[in-house]
Amino acid sequence: MKNPYKMTYHIEPDKGLMNDPNGVIWFEDKYYFFHQWNRFDTNHDYKEWGVFTSTNMIDWRNEGSAILPDRKLDRDGVYSGSSIEHNGEIYTFYTGNVKNNGERKSYQCISRSKDGRTFIKEENAIETPTEFTEHHRDPKVWRGENNWWMIVGAQTRERKGAIALYSSCDLLHWKYENILYGQHLGNMCECPDLFSINDETDILLCCPQERSEKEDGLTDISSYSAFISGKFDEKAKKFLPKSSLELLDYGFDFYAPQSFSDYKGRRIMVGWMSRMSDLEERLCPTKQYGYMHCLTLPRIVTWENGGIRQRPIEEVKELRKQEQKFISSQGSFELESGRFELELDRKDCTSDFQLLLRDGAVEIHYCSKKNELSVTRENWVTYKKETKVKQIQSLAQMSIFSDNSSIEIFVNDGECVFSLRYFTNEENLSVKYAGLQQEGELHYFAF
Ligand code: FRU
Repeated sequence: MKNPYKMTYHIEPDKGLMNDPNGVIWFEDKYYFFHQWNRFDTNHDYKEWGVFTSTNMIDWRNEGSAILPDRKLDRDGVYSGSSIEHNGEIYTFYTGNVKNNGERKSYQCISRSKDGRTFIKEENAIETPTEFTEHHRDPKVWRGENNWWMIVGAQTRERKGAIALYSSCDLLHWKYENILYGQHLGNMCECPDLFSINDETDILLCCPQERSEKEDGLTDISSYSAFISGKFDEKAKKFLPKSSLELLDYGFDFYAPQSFSDYKGRRIMVGWMSRMSDLEERLCPTKQYGYMHCLTLPRIVTWENGGIRQRPIEEVKELRKQEQKFISSQGSFELESGRFELELDRKDCTSDFQLLLRDGAVEIHYCSKKNELSVTRENWVTYKKETKVKQIQSLAQMSIFSDNSSIEIFVNDGECVFSLRYFTNEENLSVKYAGLQQEGELHYFAF
């Protein structure tokens, strides 16, 4: 059975269900992207770390399982976490999930590997400090001035989202310090990340959620991923915000991002390209092929003129085969397949623009009167159109990447991004556009 949704340059599993990227790292000449994986079924009943490797983040090798839920402290799930390299080894930090008669217990666990294949688990693990509930997970570790730091997504006893800070001198023994940050994080905060983007600015990534009390709320879609700019004060052990919470992505499917710095010194971020509800997952069109979900394209994150920029990694240009250029104010053309890049450049960036992709499966509209960019897709459960909107002052540029069943739209040179899955027939290959005035150009690159 031919699969029209299969990805070609994104990470997706060959079977089972993938969720969060975990422990993404450059180690001994290769990128390692670990991820949450149920290799047995397309549901959330089982969690381990799987791993893909690559030298360019475009051609991926599926290396299968990496860390399994095979001991007392992680027997009900090897949950999300991070990696760092130290003394020639990868150290991974993850949450061991344990259920005792249905009651959750979380342990922040450590494992080590010299070759990226075999991971040896440490005996000791961090137990949750008493001021938090057992919704305590997703450790992220980095090197500070005088010691190592770890942050963990948390929930206070008052059911407020928080980010817990730990310190260590040897990466193996950890001390709980205090709450690093705890404002506007819903009633639980998943997958925190913190990194320096320049001398003055640090970025705190977080996934606040308003979760129901039900234990299987992993796919609760009230959660979203966001960032706050500010400064981590190592002495005060606090994150001092300079901005309020802002969305990281304006599309339908982006969650649980992880970042790392690669050998080129780039800050790279990758997310899980799903934010489906339980029902959308149950009816997800790839399920009939025995697998579900994928990761986004890795993005380069920078800080420019007081704002975040996200751009696709340059390596994606290696995929470009032939190019066609369109300059008339409106037109239509046929794609070779569902794998392509479209690049829009407009001199007149304040007039309306519209683009209908793959026979209208995805629509992009810029309305100059409202200063609004909207992205619309058809929902595969309701068959209704659904739209996401972002206010922007003008539309000068867009880079759009499609991989058979995903679209990532980078707007105005990375000022904002929309990521989404879409499911359409293989033969739906027509593109229509309108609003390309005065020396505007639309470039089509077949992949
Ligand atoms: C986010 C998340 C994490 C958790 C993991 C379990 O999607 O809920 O908080 O560690 O997924 O798969």
